[in-house]
Amino acid sequence: MSGQISDDKIEQVRDRTDIVELVSQYVNLKVSGRNRLGLCPFHAEKTPSFSVNAERQFYHCFGCGAGGDVFSFLMQSEGLSFPDAVRRLADRAGVDLEERLLSVAESAQIERRERLFRINSLAADYFHENLMEHPQGEVARAYMKKRGYGQKAAGEYRIGYALDDWEGLKNHLLRQQVSAEDARSLGLLCAGKLGRGDYDMFRARLMFPIFDLSGRVVAFAGRVLDDSKPKYINSPESPIYHKGEVLFGLYQARQAIRVSGDVLIVEGYFDQMALSRAGFAQAVATCGTALTADHVRQLKRYAQRVVLMFDQDSAGKQATFRAMTTLQQAGAAAAAISLPAGDDPDSFLHRHGADAFRTRLEAARPVMEIYMDEALKQAGSAVEPKVRAVEQVLEKIAFLPSELEQDLYIKELSQRSGIEAALVQKKLAAIRQNQQRSRASSQRQEPPQQAPRPSAGPGEKRAITRPQSSRAAINRTELTLLRLLLQNSQVRKEFVERGGMNLIQHPDAAVLIRLVLERSTASGCEIESLLPELNDVQREILVQARSCDPDEFAENLEQVSADCLRSLEKQALKKRADQLLQEMIPAAETRGDTGEADRFRAELSQLQLQIKMPPGHENHKKKRGNI
Ligand code: UTP
Ligand code: MN
Repeated sequence: MSGQISDDKIEQVRDRTDIVELVSQYVNLKVSGRNRLGLCPFHAEKTPSFSVNAERQFYHCFGCGAGGDVFSFLMQSEGLSFPDAVRRLADRAGVDLEERLLSVAESAQIERRERLFRINSLAADYFHENLMEHPQGEVARAYMKKRGYGQKAAGEYRIGYALDDWEGLKNHLLRQQVSAEDARSLGLLCAGKLGRGDYDMFRARLMFPIFDLSGRVVAFAGRVLDDSKPKYINSPESPIYHKGEVLFGLYQARQAIRVSGDVLIVEGYFDQMALSRAGFAQAVATCGTALTADHVRQLKRYAQRVVLMFDQDSAGKQATFRAMTTLQQAGAAAAAISLPAGDDPDSFLHRHGADAFRTRLEAARPVMEIYMDEALKQAGSAVEPKVRAVEQVLEKIAFLPSELEQDLYIKELSQRSGIEAALVQKKLAAIRQNQQRSRASSQRQEPPQQAPRPSAGPGEKRAITRPQSSRAAINRTELTLLRLLLQNSQVRKEFVERGGMNLIQHPDAAVLIRLVLERSTASGCEIESLLPELNDVQREILVQARSCDPDEFAENLEQVSADCLRSLEKQALKKRADQLLQEMIPAAETRGDTGEADRFRAELSQLQLQIKMPPGHENHKKKRGNI
């Protein structure tokens, strides 16, 4: 079962888990004074600087600064969310979590997802067995062999083969009591035309399963074995697959990425496999889409630097520069290496070998530098184009999160363009101001929670409706609440019971509060463990909340929090009342639907009553929804 885990249970799991024992499964620890010491699993090092304190049940790396408790260790090593880390350790420790009961709709959704995962897993096994053993799989085995892959790679990636058959998978799934509708929603089966039954979507294709970070199959990509078109068929988006959030190979590459500190981003499935085979296991492939902010957020958990393959043609360059902006906005370092025209990493490795690739990798340059080169080169020496190129580069520099870095690039830009550094600096300040102004005005026009997210790639639909980050000011009440939630577990409990989550309007505050609730234990909230997951706005809000005087409300924390909740509830009720009054009732009347209009009016007068009611009269325990 999946739901919300209580603070008590989390404490129980922590009590029953020994950090030394847990870490020892990943790191070879030697006793050193009161601590134990080993090679840090989170960065590459030759001398041990990773220390574990058994007494305090805490780890810390003097090299990279990683540190935390049993939960954060598992989160960092396995890329798990906090609740998943708790569940994993609870299993080991034999703690029964008895998670909070879910609403009917929530459990239906979870059950459906579980069913879909099961179907994908059945399909992956079926395809894999076809590849390994089926007589008809010989063509695919030969194809794999031709490209240099044997049983080992096939096993590691669970690669498979979809037979040249219209009903192979279908019959297999139906024998396992799988609902055809579910299989259709995963894109594994297609509905036949009138009078015909379903048929297999993937036929006579080499099948790559795409795994999420828990190792579950979320989608497939199927490649033809010859030159026919389309070369690849990909699973459609589904309740368990959003291609803008998944990277092919990340599940297999996590550890290598962490150790090397780099992640190489490539376009093709075969590129990822070829790199891994050649000793560059720190590679991942996008699934036929541009690099998204969600991808970057995941990668930042493992990598210090993202290395892109720089394609010589102009489409390739543009794609690299777009990815650069996405990376910069997420505060990730971006470098690129260039390959000869017409080569992808797979073909390059074939032609030139691993050493040649390593040389290129070592010569990776910051994408910003490449961008500067390109812009200035294209502009030439004439004054006007050059000025425009400098402005264009500054637009990108303005996105860099570090002022130090900005400064270095400004010096470089000034040197190369021959424009005085002070002038370049001044121009950058103007551009920055402009960017801020346009951000602010776009937010005035659109409430932040409805602002569309920039699309991740051409023609791509956003699959999730997570609110967009915004620089709009957080309202006082929400800020105060956040402060209190950070301070006190009773406040957190009350907040959850009153369905507070549904009352938070500011999208970044909502993300933050949800995390605080997830990560807090009876002893408090490990703010440090949250930081890597926050965007700039969220960090700013967190800083604001923490910079207030912690004792200000010390006397009556719970009263203040109840007042805040009450005030937010009122705001929500008022909003609904306005909506009824100004839109819904008039619309029902225009339609001539008097029954509906009357119901709305009744709701309105009920609301008005609630809005006037003094605090304490409303039903505190009434659940407004689940978190
Ligand atoms: P490529 O055409 O470069 O293929 O597409 P590849 O990965 O190098 O494959 P091989 O080496 O020819 O076998 C790069 C990526 O673009 C997406 C896939 O993600 C592919 O890996 N793609 C390509 C599709 O989704 N559909 C297609 O028809 C082609
Ligand atoms: Mn290729």
